[in-house]
Amino acid sequence: MMEQIEQLGSAARAELTAASDAAALEAWRLAFLGNSGRLKGLLAGLKDVPKDQKPAVGARLNALKAELEEAMGARKTELGDAAVAPSGPMIDVTEPGLQFSQELGRRHILMRVREELVEVFARMGFVTAEGPELEDDQHNFAKLNIPADHPARDPIDNFYIDDPAKKQSPRMLRSQTSTVQIRVMEAAVAAARGREGAEGGLAGPIRIIAPGRVYRPDAVDATHSFMFHQIEGLYLDRGVSMADLKTTLFQFARAYFAGADGEGPQIRLRPSFFPFTEPSAEFDLRIRLRPDQPVRWMELGGCGMVHPNVLRDCGIDPQVWNGFAFGFGIERLAMGKYGIPDIRMLFENDLRFLRQI
Ligand code: DAH
Repeated sequence: MMEQIEQLGSAARAELTAASDAAALEAWRLAFLGNSGRLKGLLAGLKDVPKDQKPAVGARLNALKAELEEAMGARKTELGDAAVAPSGPMIDVTEPGLQFSQELGRRHILMRVREELVEVFARMGFVTAEGPELEDDQHNFAKLNIPADHPARDPIDNFYIDDPAKKQSPRMLRSQTSTVQIRVMEAAVAAARGREGAEGGLAGPIRIIAPGRVYRPDAVDATHSFMFHQIEGLYLDRGVSMADLKTTLFQFARAYFAGADGEGPQIRLRPSFFPFTEPSAEFDLRIRLRPDQPVRWMELGGCGMVHPNVLRDCGIDPQVWNGFAFGFGIERLAMGKYGIPDIRMLFENDLRFLRQI
């Protein structure tokens, strides 16, 4: 028995020296120290050893086991990186990954709708324009052909910064994005001045879309807010007709509200009045406003052919250029498209709501 032990010892030492990587080391461990390894095999034979020799043989076996374990540790250290299994049992690829997605932010629903709108109009050739939110009476009213005594100019209905009784063109928070029409036309006329080929104040057509915030001191309820968003469109060219306006709006509504079958909602223009357009119309859409409501007509906004006075005031000759304009509320569009019942939900920033859509 003692002899067998010594033989095993020499064999183990020799093979350990030969083991030069992680796999060989592991194979060596299994062969000598494993549960069904050779050392265990000898240990099983201990019961057949005469009683008086048992303690000595047992001690020798234990000593060899300790020696071999230590030798294996030393060999591992010696081999360094090579002893580290390249794909060891450390990584469990079946374990679920970390849940990052729940913590990811997202764009606010209004901003996404605004982007979608800009995108739909961009496909029709409209470029995005911007104007200041802190405006003046000239751009918000006077140049839009809104007379001094018009009820819309009532200080009660506007956020004036300057006292309208004391200042020529008092500053105010804009109440409509139609102001951007004026800003764009003024800039185009200034740019066309002295340019070759410019005629009637312009060097070429204008086709812009202007999304932005507007302000009105309305009491807040399910459909009103003191701040909301509008999107304004303006197209000036030679010989633009009401049919162009209608086509543009209908194309837009069909593209934006297209269902799974590609069919858009019903749309209609209703005669109306705005000081800055002639003729003017209201633009309606027939959709389901809330999931629990029947389909019905919803007013989207106003539109019309730009009034000659507006063009003239900006330095554009209405005999040469004409066109259409439109403006509607972005909140309404968002509420209509996503079945949002209350405008306040868009501004309260309740994460439970924001995460839903
Ligand atoms: N600015 C109008 C409003 O806030 C909406 C509007 C009507 C815009 C007719 C237009 C237009 O461009 O042509 O109620």
